[in-house]
Amino acid sequence: MPSVAYVNGVFVAADADGAVVPLEDRGHLFGDGVYEVVRVYGGRPFLLAWHLERLAHSLAAIGLANPHSDAEWTSLIEQAVAQSGAAEATVYWQVTRGTAPRAHTFPDVQPAVTMVVRPWTAPPAPRAATLLCLPDERWANAWVKSINLLPNVIAKENARRAGADEALLVRSGAITEGAASNLFVVHQGVLYTHPANRYILAGITRRFVLGLAHDLGIPVREVAWPLAELAAADEVFLTGTTTEVLAVDRILAYEADLPSLHQLGEERPRGLVGRDGPLVTLWQAKGPGPVTGRLQEAFAARRTMG
Ligand code: PDD
Repeated sequence: MPSVAYVNGVFVAADADGAVVPLEDRGHLFGDGVYEVVRVYGGRPFLLAWHLERLAHSLAAIGLANPHSDAEWTSLIEQAVAQSGAAEATVYWQVTRGTAPRAHTFPDVQPAVTMVVRPWTAPPAPRAATLLCLPDERWANAWVKSINLLPNVIAKENARRAGADEALLVRSGAITEGAASNLFVVHQGVLYTHPANRYILAGITRRFVLGLAHDLGIPVREVAWPLAELAAADEVFLTGTTTEVLAVDRILAYEADLPSLHQLGEERPRGLVGRDGPLVTLWQAKGPGPVTGRLQEAFAARRTMG
């Protein structure tokens, strides 16, 4: 299956010479743009209307006019998917402030739209993920799906180097989210996740899973889970467009990071589970999580209906 790219109005093969952006595109120079990623199941983009709603909010947040109506976006994305011929795929697209000689202030030019459809081959994903706790060093507008992902990229790489699958970001002693996923904790049958305020990206999968929880009668509290209370978590899982609903089986931290992960004077995590050189295990799953399992089943049953 070919990967298809769309560059300012033209469809090209993703690896073709034409699939390039100009040197002075503001996304390239400044990271001045926003993006979305949608998963395609059975040839249909899943929850596209919600992604377009979030894109509109991100564009408004950075003062960039939306270059397309929702109907135009939908048609563009459907055309790109059709051209790729892939039934299982991801569509990545971004809007930048356009191309202009480098100056920080906004130029009076048209925004630039680029898109890539990649056939989706499920990675040999772990059935459960290991997380590495790291300080959340992002700006205070993490709700904007900005293409500026340097803190996320560095966090994820640091997680990989520690043998973990994802970074778990901690701000002022509270767990915010993963580097590219949202986090849920199950405690005494109640689902906890960080409120969708400025400090997290309001994940589309998070929103969908909250709806599933409602339908299944699982109580939800949109309250940040304190790192110091990790030991009390019965189950932990991640959500995301490509992550879907992924169980977590271990949460690690560098012992040297523990003071900076907690606010001064705040309680340190209780009940360290283990230690491996500089790494400590803060939490370990007791077995397959029943609430996670129910949500995974409901997700699998509903994901082709979006
Ligand atoms: N990442 N939080 C962050 C910081 C993310 O980057 C993502 C998604 C999520 C989950 O959001 P959603 O359910 O809408 O995918 C949460 C995408 C997939 C990425 O950057 O590749």
